Amino acid sequence: MKINPKVITLPKHTDRRGNLSFIEENTHVPFDIKRVYYLYDMPAGAERGAHGHKALEQLIIPLSGSFEIILDNGKETFPFFLKKPWEGLYVPPMYWRELKEFSSGAVCMVLASEKYDENDYFRDYAEFKKAALCN
Ligand code: TYD
Repeated sequence: MKINPKVITLPKHTDRRGNLSFIEENTHVPFDIKRVYYLYDMPAGAERGAHGHKALEQLIIPLSGSFEIILDNGKETFPFFLKKPWEGLYVPPMYWRELKEFSSGAVCMVLASEKYDENDYFRDYAEFKKAALCN
């Protein structure tokens, strides 16, 4: 079954000491978590992403600060603005993504359903679009 991109609201425990959120695989994200990576120290104006994945599923969380994500399925684009550390964007396979407009000090954490595999990437937009439209 094909799932659409969606913002997932994570659990949030608040008390006088601050907030705590957590993520369990297959409960708060619809996949096994095989990898975690994070982007930080982005210089002003940096743009990241600009690729698609054949099979990888991800949850992208703005641990600190904010940024914009544009998803593209080859036919339509879907803009998201992430700024809440208790909300993550679920990105299914076969979406081209661009991340930009990082606020100063932003930290972007990504939970991924597979280990790093360069063969899972589309790095060329034309190639991605061709595959997406046949999908
Ligand atoms: P890249 O895919 O260009 O980052 P982004 O698309 O998020 O801007 O990755 C940058 C480099 O890091 C590239 O050489 C691949 C490597 N890398 C890993 O080795 N493991 C990983 O889990 C990721 C996401 C990237």
